[in-house]
Amino acid sequence: MSVHKPNIKRVTTHQLQEMKNRGEKISMLTAYDFSMARILDQAGIDVLLVGDSASNVMAGNETTLPITLDQMIYHAQGVVRAINRAFVVVDLPFGSYQGNSRQALESAIRIMKESGAHSVKLEGGAEVRESIQRVLTAGVPVMGHLGLTPQSIYKFGTYSVRAKEEEEAEKLISDAKVLEECGCYAIVLEKIPSKLAKRVAETVSIPIIGIGAGPDVDGQVLVVHDMLGITQEFQPRFLRQYADISKAMREATENYIKDVKAKSFPNEKESY
Ligand code: KIV
Repeated sequence: MSVHKPNIKRVTTHQLQEMKNRGEKISMLTAYDFSMARILDQAGIDVLLVGDSASNVMAGNETTLPITLDQMIYHAQGVVRAINRAFVVVDLPFGSYQGNSRQALESAIRIMKESGAHSVKLEGGAEVRESIQRVLTAGVPVMGHLGLTPQSIYKFGTYSVRAKEEEEAEKLISDAKVLEECGCYAIVLEKIPSKLAKRVAETVSIPIIGIGAGPDVDGQVLVVHDMLGITQEFQPRFLRQYADISKAMREATENYIKDVKAKSFPNEKESY
């Protein structure tokens, strides 16, 4: 666990709420390891999500389903060691909370105890109400996740935009209210029409963080590997790529290989 520097003020759920109240947008990115988390924290990110997207971008799985609770805790430990300011949220992985509320509580407690993270996130609305309430009784802040919920990908069948039809949109609004009533401190809305996301952000008083949910929400989250251009295949419309790190890494590696083959690395100054 990290040793907190006392002169740096940590982000809290209370501060996130204040940010919504005064109209300051919340910045959130995923992180899965120490080195990356340290850079993002130094840059001033508000929230770091140890997302179960680690299953895709770190392990190369096609979906988020295979990642385990132990693996999520391992990723979270590295992230927590790196940060001084950011608020750290960890995804409860598939199969670690859907059984019953006791299972959800035990999984959340393991994450908090073994990683030192500040909060957990789980997917779903009314159907996970009991689990959320039970986790909250232990004093663990819970972030909700509605819209495209990747742990249900085999139910949806595709990763396309959710809640375009009225019935699903109404259910989403009702679920957002349930999550607020339960005591969630924030909700992620993934890949839904901007108009609907705006309606949700205006309907509930807790912060709404969007990914593919348009500009009229209280904050934005992206998968850091997508945002930095490390992943190359994934180019959804909602993604803005801020760097081309894969190009930089490939070029650096090609130069290293060239130098090794040419026997120009290491030189005298780089040797003992
Ligand atoms: O796991 C993840 O990266 C997420 C984001 C897409 C919000 O849940």
